[in-house]
Parts: sequence; structure tokens; C-alpha cells
Amino acid sequence: MALPKTPSLFRPLSFSLLLFILFVALRTPLSFSSATISANFSISGDRQLTSKGGNFVLGFFSPPNSTKYYIGIWYKKVSQPTSVWIANRETPVSDHTKSELKLSDDGNLVLLNESKAQIWSTNASISASYTVAVLQDSGNLALTDGSNPSKILWQSVDNPTDTWLPGGKLGLNKVTKQNQRLISWKSSADPAPGIFSLELDPNGTSQYFIQWNKSVSYWTSATWNGRIFSDVPEMNENYNYNFTYVNNRDESYFTYSVKYDSVISRFVMDLSGQIRQLTWMEDLQEWILFWAQPKALCEVHSLCGSFGSCSVSSLPFCKCVKGFAARNQTEWDLEDRTGGCVRNTPLQCSSNSSANVEKDRFYPMDGMRLPVNAQNQPDVGSAEDCASTCLNNCSCTAYSFGGGCSVWHGDLINLQNQYNGSDSGTLYLRLAASELPDSTSKKGTVAGAVAGAVAGLVVCVVIVWVVIWRRRKRRMIHAAKAVGRTLVPFRYSDLQHFTKNFSEKLGGGGFGLVFKGFLPDSTAIAVKKLEGLRLHGEKQFRAEVSTIGTVQHVNLVRLLGFCSEGTRRLLVYEFMPKGSLDAQLFQNNSMVLDWNKRYQIALGIARGLAYLHEKCRDCIIHCDIKPENILLDASFVPKVADFGLAKLFGREFSRELTTMRGTRGYLAPEWITGVAITAKSDVYSYGMMLLEIISGKRNSEQTEEGKATFFPTLAANKLVQGDVQRLVDHRLGDDVNIEELERACKIACWCIQDDEISRPAMGQVVQILEGFLEINMPPIPRSLQILVESPENINFFSDLSSNQSSQTRSTICTGSQS
Ligand SMILES: *[C@@H]1O[C@H](CO)[C@@H](O)[C@H](O)[C@H]1NC(C)=O
Ligand SMILES: *[C@@H]1O[C@H](CO)[C@@H](O)[C@H](O)[C@H]1NC(C)=O
Ligand SMILES: *[C@@H]1O[C@H](CO)[C@@H](O)[C@H](O)[C@H]1NC(C)=O
Ligand SMILES: *[C@@H]1O[C@H](CO)[C@@H](O)[C@H](O)[C@H]1NC(C)=O
Ligand SMILES: *[C@@H]1O[C@H](CO)[C@@H](O)[C@H](O)[C@H]1NC(C)=O
Ligand SMILES: *[C@@H]1O[C@H](CO)[C@@H](O)[C@H](O)[C@H]1NC(C)=O
Ligand SMILES: *[C@@H]1O[C@H](CO)[C@@H](O)[C@H](O)[C@H]1NC(C)=O
Ligand SMILES: *[C@@H]1O[C@H](CO)[C@@H](O)[C@H](O)[C@H]1NC(C)=O
Ligand SMILES: *[C@@H]1O[C@H](CO)[C@@H](O)[C@H](O)[C@H]1NC(C)=O
Ligand SMILES: *[C@@H]1O[C@H](CO)[C@@H](O)[C@H](O)[C@H]1NC(C)=O
Ligand SMILES: *[C@@H]1O[C@H](CO)[C@@H](O)[C@H](O)[C@H]1NC(C)=O
Repeated sequence: MALPKTPSLFRPLSFSLLLFILFVALRTPLSFSSATISANFSISGDRQLTSKGGNFVLGFFSPPNSTKYYIGIWYKKVSQPTSVWIANRETPVSDHTKSELKLSDDGNLVLLNESKAQIWSTNASISASYTVAVLQDSGNLALTDGSNPSKILWQSVDNPTDTWLPGGKLGLNKVTKQNQRLISWKSSADPAPGIFSLELDPNGTSQYFIQWNKSVSYWTSATWNGRIFSDVPEMNENYNYNFTYVNNRDESYFTYSVKYDSVISRFVMDLSGQIRQLTWMEDLQEWILFWAQPKALCEVHSLCGSFGSCSVSSLPFCKCVKGFAARNQTEWDLEDRTGGCVRNTPLQCSSNSSANVEKDRFYPMDGMRLPVNAQNQPDVGSAEDCASTCLNNCSCTAYSFGGGCSVWHGDLINLQNQYNGSDSGTLYLRLAASELPDSTSKKGTVAGAVAGAVAGLVVCVVIVWVVIWRRRKRRMIHAAKAVGRTLVPFRYSDLQHFTKNFSEKLGGGGFGLVFKGFLPDSTAIAVKKLEGLRLHGEKQFRAEVSTIGTVQHVNLVRLLGFCSEGTRRLLVYEFMPKGSLDAQLFQNNSMVLDWNKRYQIALGIARGLAYLHEKCRDCIIHCDIKPENILLDASFVPKVADFGLAKLFGREFSRELTTMRGTRGYLAPEWITGVAITAKSDVYSYGMMLLEIISGKRNSEQTEEGKATFFPTLAANKLVQGDVQRLVDHRLGDDVNIEELERACKIACWCIQDDEISRPAMGQVVQILEGFLEINMPPIPRSLQILVESPENINFFSDLSSNQSSQTRSTICTGSQS
């Protein structure tokens, strides 16, 4: 018998507990292999039910940061604990060993708490003589008639919590008027129903709403056109999910299926008020965000609660405005912001001892999205009058004067920092005078004191500066010595100095900007300032960096050091004088890379990737191979850059790729279809890039007899016709080795096969380029064949790789924009 997996999903188990569970498991083997609950079986303590194919588990779990237990269903094959359904989300138990999920005498599935009181029930009206509950491989828990298993009396997919699984329905029962809605958790530690929900329009149109506390809709899907929701363009292309809308007398609902069984995918109404579609990536051990709506987190109604302000450019997204603090910091930290923020100091107008307290003042906040429920004051004509209108009414909390006067009473909701829309402006927030620095009164007396203090300060500063300058010099020499041996932890101030305060920009990518600098020993360096990495702790950053730092190969860019101070994360690399490959290939400068250099570059990149995939300790998938990420040293030796950043960035990186800015033309189809990403995805990108190395042009920008053509299609066809000479960069003239050219074209075409099994491994690519392996004629990739048959599709593909479309494309996590 196969030993059961330890039920350690939601909290780490001690070794002795593990032994105990194994012991229990061996004594009660039935409990683990069975997928059904029948009359004599119950779930209690760590006992679990596993679905027949081993996809899902039913049992007690406790969310992180919670001490309560819930009956839930979660994925068995996903290493991150992810529950998809919860029975008692509102009625947790404290001691799961004394609580019990079982069939009651009337045939319903019930949960009994520690004192054997029933706290949850399936509540079905049952006429069957006996019932069984089955955990199906789709993640559905079904209560069926024991003598007729196809008769379902109750099932969990009809009663969703926050997750919508493939095969589940989400809609409206017209008979019972029951609306199957997804409702977010209350906080990251509490699965009780929160304030955000997704439901089908109760009026019977085929569109979804996301609502805040069941009263305010802040997103609608727009109606279903039979194929997609027009406001969710991500569903449009190569979508891997088959949505069906069913509307009959009894019910109207949507259901969906996944085209590939191996894909683990779910929709979730997230704690943040977004509906998200996520796919599990086995290789990254991460849930990848496929799409989310509303696209910008700050569009979620009242995300940050009252007097909370949303910001897309910093994490956490929510902060209390000046003079306010979270009503309940514990809840706030667990992402439950319904309590909002409260004043640190009561307003003067509401205090009883008004005599000796200064009048309230206004704190200006620039570039804010103005809160909802403004009251316009048409009679007020000046900013001063607007301020005094607000001051004269104690319930007034803010005003804004932009053309006309608006005031707000009570709580301020939907504030956003650094906002750029049409409803932005300067908000004047009313605060108790003591919350603001003195500005008007006592000016005269203060001035003398300030003058004295300044003189003293100047002396101090000079002394301190001299001391620091000396220390820094010592440190820089020290840092310079360390280079070449191990990774150097740089100080931010030193890097600032080395790069002349980040003045010479070399370029920028998805991860941040790169600047040139010099170490004190005049070694040239490139310093990359990472952005959007704030979620990662210092420890993890260092651990990851030290892994990347130990990977050394002549075709991989070398990391010299790093800086990790506060929220700042920088990486220091050796400087590459010839810049990136895209500049060398595509720029119309006089220097054209000759064929031999191109071939050696292709070979070098292949060697670097083969090393990443096969030779170093943990296989590293680059995930973002494109000419921009290949750097060239003084003698045009290629170095793969930014490898390992995929790992370091984790979820942020996935978001970046999900939005697919600019990188689209190099992405393997599996990125879009959602199946697992493997090293073969890099092979695909390599193939696309190799075609560009051959032609010296972007794949999407090529013209053939005046028409825009998708170059890979042309290349595959010419290759099969034996006419590869047409494909090579015409600037090279006759200076081309035809045998090498043909080999390179064949490899490129093998690399971009739709089916990853057909693509060669990078190690094989190296051997073929070196001439040690022979290679057959590749078939034309199926997706390219389609393009040949229907020319209008060509634009579709080239659109995807142009930057223009990436701007209209959604930006799911605006926090990681560059
Ligand atoms: C349950 O237990 C009772 C007595 O212990 C036994 O008679 C009955 O057959 C059992 N039922 C099942 C389904 O195992
Ligand atoms: C939740 O638990 C984690 C460790 O499990 C801890 O780091 C974190 O601070 C906790 N969060 C809160 C809000 O208590
Ligand atoms: C069990 O539930 C009942 C009914 O809700 C409640 O009165 C009782 O206090 C609960 N027992 C425990 C130990 O929580
Ligand atoms: C079952 O019915 C009772 C009373 O009608 C109700 O309080 C309870 O919420 C219902 N439980 C479920 C899971 O629907
Ligand atoms: C449903 O219809 C009613 C009446 O026509 C309307 O007042 C209401 O706003 C509609 N609700 C939604 C969610 O569209
Ligand atoms: C929703 O929020 C508003 C404002 O806070 C409140 O008045 C209302 O009662 C809430 N509605 C529900 C159903 O909680
Ligand atoms: C999508 O699902 C529906 C209903 O399950 C089915 O009839 C249809 O053939 C499916 N379409 C595709 C393309 O799989
Ligand atoms: C904050 O919220 C938590 C969880 O809801 C609660 O246990 C705690 O008592 C609250 N603290 C305060 C100070 O209200
Ligand atoms: C003001 O005084 C009243 C009555 O004395 C009292 O109920 C109220 O709490 C006081 N308000 C403040 C803000 O101190
Ligand atoms: C203050 O403004 C509120 C809301 O406009 C209004 O109901 C109230 O009467 C005003 N109070 C005074 C004293 O003007
Ligand atoms: C607002 O938009 C303008 C022009 O569109 C741009 O220059 C400016 O940087 C933007 N500001 C912010 C804070 O995004």
C-alpha cells in the first residue's frame, strides 16, 4: 500500500506527529484510500478523505495565522495550501480532534462541534433510505442517494465559497431564487464571508457583477456574446477554457471546462476584491495569475476602507492618510480593511473643552483621486470660502476647490494616491491642529532660535562629513578588494557614488533600470535597480542572490555583488561594452555583425542556456529569452543576462509575463495555454531569437514583397522549399556559410515546434551547432501552418509582439510597472 501523504498542508507537523499519523494511517487504512463517507465513517482530527484520482483532499485544516479549524477541500498535488471549498466558514471549531463530520440519521452530512452540537448541515430534504457522500476528482463533494449514486441530493459546487472550479456552476436558481455567488474571505486568516462578491446579474442578463458589501457594484463583465465577455479580452486569444452559458426555465448559469486535464486552474474572488484566474505552475511552484478584474487593484471599491488611501506604486497598497491609524492593526495586517482608519486626535470642533484648543486645520494632499459622495457647493466662489464652509460644519472632513467647491461629510472612501485620472485633484483633509506642524503662529520668536540652531548644525555637519568621508574611502577600498572572490554586499550610498548618483542609464527592462558605474579600481560595472520586489524579504533576496551568484559560465553574465537596504534591492554586474544583442542586430548602424560572429553568438547563447538547464545544481529556467537579455562583451562573446530573476521575482515576474509586455513574440504557446512551463519554453524563445539573428530583423517587422509577413512562417516554408538564402540578412551579401545557415534554420524551426516534446534540448542544440549531430528536416509548426492558410491571421500574431498592443493590454499588477 502506498503510504499516505502527510496531512501537513496548513501547518508544519512535528516529526513525532508525523510518526503518529503514519501509525494511525496504517491502523486505519480505509480512512485514507476511501473517497466516500458512508454510514459508519466520519472525519475527525487529522483523518482525511482523498478523491479517487488523488486530486483533492477533504479534511480539517487551519488557515495560517488562525487557531480555528474548518472542514475544507484542497488540492493534494499543489504544494501551496490552497482550499477550494469550506463547509463551516462561519462556524469554526477550536478542537478538531473532538469535532466530527459524518452522515446524520436523516441522511444529511453534518458537522458536530466539540460538544456534539450540530453547527453545519447540507440541509437537503432527503427521501432516500440511505445516503453516501463522495469526494470527486473534480473537487466536488456530492451527497448522493445510496441506492442510486447518480441521484445527487446536494453538492459543494452548487454552494461555492470563494472559488470556482472547472465544472462548477455559477449562476442563479430561478426556482429557489438562490444565487450562487463567490464571496471573498474576511481576512487572510478568516474564511468567513467578506465584503466582496461576484454574482450573475439577478435581472437575468448574462453578465457578472463584482459587488462591495452586496450594495455597490464596481465591476461588470459586460454581457456574454456567446464566446467571451467583451470586457475580458484575455479570454479572446487561444483561451484554454471553454465557457458555456446555460439559460433555461429553472436556472441560468455559466460553467467552464479546461481543455487540458493536466492543467490545474481556478477562479477565486480574492480578498483584494479582484476576481482572479490562476493556474498552477509546477515548475515555479507558484500560482500564476492569468487575468484579474478589475485590472487595477485601486479600482476596487473601498479597498482600503474609510480614510485609507490606495497606491499603485508602493506596497502595501493601502495606507491610512495622515493623522489616521488603522482601527484594528491586527485585522489591517491580515488584509481585513473594513474597519478602515480612525483619527489619532479628535477634531477640535467635536471636543468639549474648546476654549484652549486650537482650531482645526487642513492638510493638502496633491494628486488624489477624490473620494465618492462629494457635496458640491455652488454658492461658494473661492478656496477660502470653501475652507471655511467646511470648518463651520463639524461633520465636514475634507474639501477640494478645483473650479468649484466640493465638501465631504463623514468617512472618506476610495482615496487614491498619485492618481492621474480626470477626477483627480488636491484634497484638503481636516485634521486637529496638533497633527500638523506649526506654520503660522509664533513666527518671530522662532526665527532667532532657528538662526542659532543652524549655526550649530553647520559645525556638526562638517565634522560628521569628514568622519564619514574617511570611512567611506576605507570601505570602498575594501569593497574593491572583495570583487572577484565572493559576492560583495554593497552599500547603497557607495553604489550611488560609483554610478555618479545613477546618472548614466544603460537601459531598462521589466525588472528595473540599469546604470553604468565604476568601482574605485576603475572596473566598469552595470548596476540594476530592481523594482517591484518589495514583497521579498531580505533573507530570501540574499538566499536567491547567493544561488545566482554561484552560477558561473563564460556565457552567463556574472553577478559581482548586490545591495539590500530597506526596500532597496540592487544587483551589480560586470559591464558589457558592446551592449545588448538587439542593439547590435536591429539598429541601422554601419557595423553589421558578420555571419561568423552571429553563428558564434548563437552557439554561445545555446551553451549558456544548456548550462542553466542541465549543468548547474538546480535547473534554472530563464523564462524571458530575447535579444534584449543577451549582452555582448568586448569581443562579442554573448552572455545571457537576467537569468534567475524569474526565480527571484516569483509572483511579480509571473504578473509581468502575464501582461506580456513586448516579450510576446518569444513566448512559447504553453505560456498562453496554461500548461506547465519547462526548460523547453526557453528552447522556443531561443528558436524565435535565432531566426532574428539570422535575418537581422524583428520577426514581426519583416516585409516580403511589400507585405508584412510573420518571418517564422516564411522561414519554415523557405526551409522546406530549400531556399534558405532568401532568409539571411541581406546586408551580409555573399559572406555567409550556407551549410551553417541551413543548420541554424533547421534548428530554429525545430525549436519553435508547438509541441514541446518535439523541441530539442539546449544540449542537443549545442551539439548540432557544433556540427557533431546531424539534423532532419523539421515539419512546419502547426500554428505557423494555420497562418499560411489564412493570411489575415498574420496581423494577429505580429500585433501580439508589438508594443502598441501591450499598452492596451491589461496590466494586472500595476505595482510592478517599470
Ligand atoms: C455499520 O455498523 C453496523 C454495526 O456496527 C453494521 O451493522 C453495518 O453493517 C455497518 N454499515 C456499514 C455501511 O458498514
Ligand atoms: C502570520 O504568520 C506569519 C508566520 O506564519 C507571520 O510572519 C506573520 O507576521 C503573521 N501575520 C500576522 C498579521 O499576524
Ligand atoms: C457547540 O455549538 C453549540 C451551538 O452552536 C454551542 O452552544 C457550543 O458552545 C459549542 N461548543 C463549543 C465547545 O464551542
Ligand atoms: C440549514 O438550515 C438552517 C435552518 O433552516 C439554517 O440556519 C442553516 O444556515 C442551514 N445550513 C446550510 C448549510 O444551509
Ligand atoms: C434590475 O432591474 C431593476 C428594475 O428594472 C433595476 O432597478 C436594477 O437596477 C437592476 N439591477 C441590476 C443589477 O441591473
Ligand atoms: C454596506 O456599507 C454601507 C456603508 O458602510 C452600510 O451602510 C451598509 O449597511 C452595508 N451593507 C451591508 C449589506 O453590509
Ligand atoms: C465546450 O463545452 C460545451 C459544453 O460542455 C461543448 O458542447 C463544446 O463542444 C465545447 N467546446 C469545445 C471547443 O471544447
Ligand atoms: C482586532 O480584531 C481582532 C480580530 O477580529 C480581535 O480579536 C481583536 O480583539 C481586535 N482588537 C481590538 C483592539 O479591537
Ligand atoms: C462631551 O461631553 C459629553 C457630555 O458631557 C460626553 O457625553 C461626550 O462624550 C464628550 N465628548 C467628548 C469628545 O469628549
Ligand atoms: C452639516 O452638514 C450636514 C450634511 O450636509 C448637515 O446635515 C448638517 O445640518 C450640517 N450642520 C450644520 C450645523 O450646518
Ligand atoms: C500623469 O500623466 C502625465 C501625462 O499623461 C504624465 O506626464 C505624468 O507623469 C503622470 N503622473 C503620474 C503620477 O503618473
